[in-house]
Amino acid sequence: MKRTSNSTAPSGKVYLVGAGPGDPDLLTLKAAKLLQRADVIVHDGLVSDEILELAPPSARRFSVAKKRSLHSVAQDEINALLINEATKGQLVVRLKGGDPFIFGRGGEEADDCMAAGVEVEVVPGISAALGCAAQARMPLTHRDASSAVSFVAGQCKGLSDQNWSGLAGKGRTLVIYMGVANAEAIVEKLIADGAAPDLPVAVLQNGTRSDFRALRTLLTDLGDLVRRENVQSPALLVVGDVARYGDAEEKFMEFAEIAGVVA
Ligand SMILES: C[S@@+](CC[C@H](N)C(=O)[O-])C[C@H]1O[C@@H](n2cnc3c(N)ncnc32)[C@H](O)[C@@H]1O
Repeated sequence: MKRTSNSTAPSGKVYLVGAGPGDPDLLTLKAAKLLQRADVIVHDGLVSDEILELAPPSARRFSVAKKRSLHSVAQDEINALLINEATKGQLVVRLKGGDPFIFGRGGEEADDCMAAGVEVEVVPGISAALGCAAQARMPLTHRDASSAVSFVAGQCKGLSDQNWSGLAGKGRTLVIYMGVANAEAIVEKLIADGAAPDLPVAVLQNGTRSDFRALRTLLTDLGDLVRRENVQSPALLVVGDVARYGDAEEKFMEFAEIAGVVA
């Protein structure tokens, strides 16, 4: 997108800030300092109250929480809000769950701000995959199990349009964001693409929060597991041999047996 500039350039600034997956202690120091200086905070639904409380009471807060089928504030309106407040000279913290540039639409917001002549700085955050893996003690790479990791969106822009060929399988880890509601279709897609039905899978819900849980099974059983355990967003699906690691081995066998997918 083309940048514009004019003689009345805004003195405010937009910071696209990653809030991490939930635990306030996983905020970067830079994010915490910016929150304390913010005039305006524009935040997603996944940002916890504990994190928002780090901002002074004087900071104006705008929630632009999005739900899968219900976009409470359209992306264009969010971009316009950021630009409008920065143009008035405000220090705007656009606070997003995880990292702004991992399925966070940070790129779109940065582009629109820059096109409007608004200065933008990106402050990275710990993405859900990293926070969840740490809490489950499940390495995303391991010299014996995986030398490649891919992040995909299980919901964005239609599953059938996405080419995941080769991303799941031996020696690989596939982390699926926003995949819970489409778990059945994801299993079909992966198996149709050649993934083995008995690949280990982990479902990591509410990563880095007190109600975290890790569930394990095999790929063929993933849809059923999501249903019978009533898995809710936010959760990640991790497909690959690393799902056996950490404190998982015992639980993994248990779930696989329940699912009737191992002898
Ligand atoms: C719109 S994406 C945002 C991702 C975010 N920018 C990041 O880097 O983690 C939202 C998805 O991230 C995943 N997610 C976010 N926070 C999570 C958490 N605490 N535990 C598990 N998954 C999480 C879920 O798959 C959720 O549907």
